[in-house]
Amino acid sequence: MKICVISGSPKGKNSITFQTVKFIALNHPECEFATLHVGQKIRSYEKDMSAALETVSRADLLLFCYPVYTFLVPCQLHRFIELLKESGVDLSGKCAAQITTSKHFYDTTAHAFIRENCADLGLRYLGGLSADMDDLTRPEGQDEALDFWELVCRRALTQYAEPYFMPEAKPVDAYRRMYEFFDESPKNEGREAVIVADLREGDDDLAGMIADFQARFPYPSRVVNIADYPFSGGCLGCFGCAVSGKCIYKDGFDDFLRNEIQTADAIVYAFRIKDHSMGAQMKMFDDRQFCNGHRTVTMGSPVAYLVRGDLAAEPNLRMVIEGRADVGRNFLAGIATDNTNMGAMIESLAYAIDREITLPQTFLGVGGMKIFRDLIWIMQGMMKADHEFYLEHGMYDFPQKEKATILKMKAVGAMIANPKVKAKMGNKMTEGMLAPYTKVLKKCAKELRRAQED
Ligand SMILES: Cc1cc2nc3c(=O)[nH]c(=O)nc-3n(C[C@H](O)[C@H](O)[C@H](O)COP(=O)(O)O)c2cc1C
Repeated sequence: MKICVISGSPKGKNSITFQTVKFIALNHPECEFATLHVGQKIRSYEKDMSAALETVSRADLLLFCYPVYTFLVPCQLHRFIELLKESGVDLSGKCAAQITTSKHFYDTTAHAFIRENCADLGLRYLGGLSADMDDLTRPEGQDEALDFWELVCRRALTQYAEPYFMPEAKPVDAYRRMYEFFDESPKNEGREAVIVADLREGDDDLAGMIADFQARFPYPSRVVNIADYPFSGGCLGCFGCAVSGKCIYKDGFDDFLRNEIQTADAIVYAFRIKDHSMGAQMKMFDDRQFCNGHRTVTMGSPVAYLVRGDLAAEPNLRMVIEGRADVGRNFLAGIATDNTNMGAMIESLAYAIDREITLPQTFLGVGGMKIFRDLIWIMQGMMKADHEFYLEHGMYDFPQKEKATILKMKAVGAMIANPKVKAKMGNKMTEGMLAPYTKVLKKCAKELRRAQED
């Protein structure tokens, strides 16, 4: 596959984000990467786009690689997209994906911006990786980058397109079956999905969607209809569950949740849109999960949605769906609406179960968890179950714990406060920032060489 990397960082080759692309390229010699450093060379592209257009036209996939800058993309990349559109180049049918680094502050809006522009350009969008600045220096971050790239390659080859729910967006159900294409079958070893549905009389369309999902999904699935659940009522906010995790209601919901829902390998929520949300019964199901406090107990399980209604017209509901998955560290495999996107969602969900995929959280998850972290720390005396969970999972990542980094930053601050030292340092600062990433790339190249020799 030919990839055109559209690198939006003004730092060009010294971009931290670009190191992730280099890491992926090292591990995937079968992919051919050509890079346009549009962030650094935008002035020259403003004068002449011909070379850039040639590279873009040759590619099968455009990979937008950029740092998140103030909610969106750097202005240079913004301008390049303008120039692409003005050129009238026909990119329809090509694929696109994106990789960013940031501190996750509004990485979500930046990613949405690229997705919207991909839709304008007729590009088939395959997904995005929003990495934290330091992710590539950690083994988990490296795995996430490689998992992401494998997902992108598979989606590229199987005609998958991630739905974006723009009003005019076309359904993306028609694409080649991933398992067939790769001559693989799902691992099926006793894994199953649970469909949590709010299904009532007259909901024939939703029932049809569920039946369709069950017939096509390669794993067994069972339906739990929460319309039938004998709830004693909605959450009372009494905090009776804070210490033990046990709800004061005696309707057995907490045990039911833990034994029937949270044990599944994937959860599929099925509802029809009602009053711009999932409806009051599904909301009761959500509220009563307060017996789990702020513990991300289904962390790592993928989720998907079957939604009846016009989700394209409900941006807030989409944000809720995305935010919930991200806070819970659940891979959002897809949302099928009114029988569109069903095939794509099914394939992604099965693949996510097989590979146990988790990708980095975005602003929605990172920001949400920081708020929870601070809250639980303060309320630890009362919210004992949460506190123990946060301690056990290393979730108290308070900045003051990073003493070595704080000291290092003090030393750097002292040096650059001195104009003479600063002048002497020149470009050394950017190079210094890049050192941990260069180390990762060198180690990876060495390991790959060694594996080839053996
Ligand atoms: C002008 C500017 C704006 C930025 N805005 C954001 C932001 O909105 N959200 C965020 O999480 N990080 C933000 N950052 C941090 C960068 O996204 C982050 O440092 C990134 O890893 C740099 O990548 P690069 O080396 O590839 O340019 C900003 C940095 C700069 C210089």
